[in-house]
Amino acid sequence: MTSSVFSRATGLHDRLDRHWPVADALLRRLYGEVPALEGWLSQVREAVIRAARNRPAALTDLDARRQAEPDWFQRPNQLGYCFYVDRFAGTLAGVRRRLDYLAELGVTYLHPLPLLAMQSGDNDGGFAVADYRSVEPRLGTAEDLRALAEDAHQAGMALCLDVVCNHTARDHAWAQAARAGDPVYRAYYHVLDNADEVAAYEATLGQVFPKTAPGNFTPEPSLARDGGGTWVWTTFYPYQWDLNYANPAVFLEMLEVLLHLANQGVDVFRLDSTPFLWKAPGTSCRGLPQTHWIVQAWRALLAIAAPGVLLKGEAIVDPDDVVSFFGRDEATGQPAANECHLAYNNGMMTALWLAQATGDAAPAHALLDRLAGRPRQAAWITYVRCHDDIIWDALAALIPAETLHRVSAFYAGALPGSYALGAAFQADGGGAPSTNGMAASLVGLRPEGRPGDADTDAPLARLLQLYQVTLALDGLPVLYMGDEVALTNAPLASIPAGEGRWLHRPAMDWDRAAGRDDGATAAGRCHAALRRLIEVRAGLPALHGAEPARALTGLPSGVLGFQRVGSRPLLCLANLTGETVTLSLPAGPLGRDVVADEDADLTALPLGPWQARWIKVRP
Ligand code: GLC
Repeated sequence: MTSSVFSRATGLHDRLDRHWPVADALLRRLYGEVPALEGWLSQVREAVIRAARNRPAALTDLDARRQAEPDWFQRPNQLGYCFYVDRFAGTLAGVRRRLDYLAELGVTYLHPLPLLAMQSGDNDGGFAVADYRSVEPRLGTAEDLRALAEDAHQAGMALCLDVVCNHTARDHAWAQAARAGDPVYRAYYHVLDNADEVAAYEATLGQVFPKTAPGNFTPEPSLARDGGGTWVWTTFYPYQWDLNYANPAVFLEMLEVLLHLANQGVDVFRLDSTPFLWKAPGTSCRGLPQTHWIVQAWRALLAIAAPGVLLKGEAIVDPDDVVSFFGRDEATGQPAANECHLAYNNGMMTALWLAQATGDAAPAHALLDRLAGRPRQAAWITYVRCHDDIIWDALAALIPAETLHRVSAFYAGALPGSYALGAAFQADGGGAPSTNGMAASLVGLRPEGRPGDADTDAPLARLLQLYQVTLALDGLPVLYMGDEVALTNAPLASIPAGEGRWLHRPAMDWDRAAGRDDGATAAGRCHAALRRLIEVRAGLPALHGAEPARALTGLPSGVLGFQRVGSRPLLCLANLTGETVTLSLPAGPLGRDVVADEDADLTALPLGPWQARWIKVRP
């Protein structure tokens, strides 16, 4: 007992020595101009030390295990699962009862979407947080969250939680105080008093919801001091007020939120809308240097208080810019693992959908090369679908606009020959409208489809291909709720007007899931195939996330291929067309298909329509 308390305290001293100077330097760079800086820095330091001292013993043990295996989240046995709590299991207590179902799939990383107390009425699926320290009452209590974390840890799963750090709900206590005239809280937000200033900012800002919430500012007369026109910055919906990180009080508040949640057992923070934290006139206000410094400072401070905890960046921006969220060495400009441990590989996700629609692997291959600059200690979150729309314009720097428009129309089912059952959402400034829909619907599966029908087999092959490719990429793959049983779109009648993203936020179909062992159903076929892939993946050292996937060259344009390296290279090959192709690979002559568990002749390797294969090269 004494020795473990002692070693915990010693660990804290070491961590302070190592990480405090990093945080201190970043905070001085960010807030050097503010009065009383030294006092504020001591408050930051005290908050971190307090959290470290209050960290429950079970969590410090987990920290120690994770520090001993710092690559735990890159290992091929990792698998995430992302879901809305109410859609999946009603409540947090319901989620705890479903952990067995997830364990059976091989899940090691749980990502319930926002579950903290949210604004009543419209709340952007919980992304308008009214109180970061309590759980949404419909879903449970703070105690239920702790219990879920404990159960998850017992089952060998990490818990990821969204921290909506860019904005609060309009009815968060800070915003309420601001509206009631408190100048301290008014300064927590970006409040603009004149229309010229608003127009000047708008000139260089993009729009996230151009149709459903145009503009980046919302008139808020309650904030006006002299009765003049007053606007509050709202990048997203009018009820989501952007926080003002130029105010050090905001930085400290959010740090305290992170420390508090870490000590409730949260292992990974999904930093919602990461690029938007810092604003500066004349810029896009996305991914500014100060935003990176804020995240780097949070990382250094969490490394002191909760060293096993990870940060995950949600940056749906140009692929080159996404890589910068893993961190950079200030002196050399080279990638360094000092910011987010994890970040969404939105680019590859989008490029894979594009590849299936166009039958052209070239953009995905080009993207793999660009993404390979990631620091080796960091990992992508790889995924096929998530709760948001697929934003084609995120590839605008790589792909001609005309192609993006065509692909968008394809997935809305609006092009001749399109099999997709998705819907167009919205686009900024004449860009390609983004796409809504569950993966199974986007690949053309009809809810009642059964294996054996041509119009069910091809969609299933496409869905499984997307997952087989994604599971072979470098990163931690996250399954989106329902994809394991090929769940299709939510009923149209259930979708609120103007918020088409609910098309892919259906309720979990537990009857469908109950039939998951029945190979005569689409759900059963999909579940069995995915389980096999997940199981095989876990045993393939080549799929460890440290080394990036490298595109193969010399393939026909309709075949996507990349190599992963281990003691023996593993090839992932995917036929993006409905016709069989036969490849002759220079890596041959002999290989083994590790999923089918059979030898493969690499001089004449067939790939069926929409088939993907994992081939281990024989020496
Ligand atoms: C993130 C979320 C999205 C939400 C937005 C605003 O992009 O994924 O669902 O609308 O942030 O919080």
